[in-house]
Amino acid sequence: MQIKNWGFIFIVGVVLAVLSACGTGATEADGEEISSDEQQVLEMGTSADFPPFESFNEDGEFVGFDIDLAHEIAEELGYELEISDMNFDGLIGALQSNRVDMVLAGMSATEERQENVDFSPAYHHSGEMFITQEDSDITSIEDIEGKTVGVQLGTIQEEGAQALQEEYDFEIHAVDEATNIIQDLLTNRIDVGYMDTTVAEGYIEEQGLAGFEDPTEASPGMAIAFPKDSELQEDISAIIEQFLEDGTIAELEEKWELDEQ
Ligand code: ARG
Repeated sequence: MQIKNWGFIFIVGVVLAVLSACGTGATEADGEEISSDEQQVLEMGTSADFPPFESFNEDGEFVGFDIDLAHEIAEELGYELEISDMNFDGLIGALQSNRVDMVLAGMSATEERQENVDFSPAYHHSGEMFITQEDSDITSIEDIEGKTVGVQLGTIQEEGAQALQEEYDFEIHAVDEATNIIQDLLTNRIDVGYMDTTVAEGYIEEQGLAGFEDPTEASPGMAIAFPKDSELQEDISAIIEQFLEDGTIAELEEKWELDEQ
């Protein structure tokens, strides 16, 4: 009985030792797998209020030029793409705190932003536009005097509007989401909206609005933003160069009806 017990304990001991050895091995292997899995995910930040670059379809899925472009990039790298929606105003901060690996949000690669983030080569150029109700008497920049102009927070248009205030006396109404500019315009909360031409043109057509080009701004092209010294920046920039050359970007521009301006 006693001998049997000892034998039993010995066997249990051996089994436990073997199991724990396997266990350690398995854990290590799992650990490696988990970290390499993490590497395979490409975290993208965007502000999905900006068709045709990024918006939600009726099923709540991200759609648009930037979304397609990001999927093409992820495929090229063999990564899985994960997209987070946030306010445009928070995107640079999300990059700086490494909450996302890259931002595609129709973001213009300004010198000021380049102090805090890195950019890929530009993949699209858009001018700026003022949009109004169809029957509005505001038809040129001089007419914004005394009016209320809607812009999206944190955009070059917010800054552009502030610069314009030195010349014209008008009020700026800054909102979190670009779609609010259109809502505010349609409900007469603002007189004029100020946004990228590529996006404004879509709204003008869809909502029966009017508008005129901004003669004052010459903004830099839209590019992918990365945290400073990101390891991905070089690889993804090379992919953008390649996509510009091999027609991938031209194809997406056609699909989403982006005209170069
Ligand atoms: N191009 C402008 C900028 O960089 C506006 C971009 C707004 N993008 C958006 N997804 N809401 O400031």
